[in-house]
Amino acid sequence: MAIRNDCTKHAESATFPDLAWRRKLRRQLLNWFRRNARDLPWRDAPTPYQTWVSEIMLQQTQVATVVEYYQRFLKRFPDVQTLAAATEQEVLRYWEGLGYYRRARQLHLAAKTIMTNHGGCFPTTFPEVLALPGIGRYTAGAILSISLGLRHPIVEANTIRLFARLLHVSTEVTATRTQKQFWEFANWILPHKHLSDFNQALMEVGSLICTPKSPACDECPLRTLCPTFVSQAFDKIPKPKQKIKSKQVQEVAVVVQHRDGHRVLLRQCQADQRWAGLWDFPRFACDIKCSQELTTLEQQQITQETHDLAYVQIDDLIPLMSIKHGVTKYRITLNCFSAKLIRDQTAKNPTLQWVSLAELDNYPLSTTGRKICKVLDREHV
Ligand code: ADE
Repeated sequence: MAIRNDCTKHAESATFPDLAWRRKLRRQLLNWFRRNARDLPWRDAPTPYQTWVSEIMLQQTQVATVVEYYQRFLKRFPDVQTLAAATEQEVLRYWEGLGYYRRARQLHLAAKTIMTNHGGCFPTTFPEVLALPGIGRYTAGAILSISLGLRHPIVEANTIRLFARLLHVSTEVTATRTQKQFWEFANWILPHKHLSDFNQALMEVGSLICTPKSPACDECPLRTLCPTFVSQAFDKIPKPKQKIKSKQVQEVAVVVQHRDGHRVLLRQCQADQRWAGLWDFPRFACDIKCSQELTTLEQQQITQETHDLAYVQIDDLIPLMSIKHGVTKYRITLNCFSAKLIRDQTAKNPTLQWVSLAELDNYPLSTTGRKICKVLDREHV
C-alpha cells in the first residue's frame, strides 16, 4: 500500500502507485457506485444541459439543498432555448436562496452564447465547453464525462480530499504543484469505459464516505488502497485550511411605504455590489439598533442615508425586526425599520421601483429581503 515510485511513465512530476493498485481502484469504485449511488434527479440519463445545470448548482452548495432547486429550475427552463429566452430577473428568481448569484447570471449568459455560437445545441468538445461563461476545467470535464461518457478527468472539492488521502499528500492542497499532481492523478486513474459512473463515483465516495471529519473508512471501497487509512492521519490530510476570521458588520434596511398605502420601495443591487442583479430594501452600513427608541440624531442619520441611496424623503421610522446572517466572512446584523414616504425623487431611476406586496413575489430578492417580506405580508404593512 505504500506509495511507489516505479510507475511514473504517465507523468514526469508525479509519483503514483502501481498498475495493480489502479486496477483495483477502478473495479472497487465502480462496483461500489452501482450498489450505493444516490438516486438524484440529475442522474437519470442526463443531457449535457441537465448535467451543466446540476454541476453549477452543486458548486459551493450541498446536494440536499440543490435537489429541490434543480427540479424547479428544470421544470421552468427544460432546455437551453428556454433558458436563453428568459429574463435574467426570472433566472435569478429561480436561483433565489441558493447564493453565489454570479453562477446564475453566467448560466444565463452561457445559454445565450450557445444560441448564438452553437445554434442552440450544447457543444460537445472540451475547448468549446470550456469557452462558455462560468465553466472551468472541472465543470467542462464533468459535463462531458457524466452526460456523454467522454474521457475527461475531474478535480473538485470532494475528489481533492479523496485524492489527498489516497496519495497521502499533507501539503497545502491549493498549491499549484499539488493541483497539477491531482489533475495528473485524476487523468491517470481514468478507465477507458464507464466514464460517467467513474467520475460520479469519485465524487460520491468523497462526499458520502471520505468526509472531512470522521470519514466512514469501514464502508469505504478504497480502504485497502488508502495510505491515510493506515496512518489514520485524517485530521492532517488534507491539510486543514486556515480559518478565516469573521468580521462583525452592522447594517440598516428601510422599508419605505408609498403614500398610496400598498407599495414599498425596492432597490436593485448593482454590478459591483453584494447580490448584484437582485433586489433589496434600501440598505446601508449603519450601527443603529432597532431594539431601542431612536434618538433624533439616529433618525436624522437613517433619513439622510436613505435619501442618499434611494432618493426619498422619509418620516415616521418604526423598528421592524433584527436579522442576523452570514455572507462569506461577514457576520451581519441587519436592523430593519419601516418608514413613510414624504417626498419621492426616484422618478425614472430604473434601479428603484415601487412594488406592491403581491408583486414582490416576482422579484429576485436577497434572502434577508425575502424574510422582511414575510413579516410585511403577516402584518399587512
Ligand atoms: N458534487 C459536485 N458534483 C457532484 C456530483 N455530480 N455528484 C455528487 N456530488 C457532487
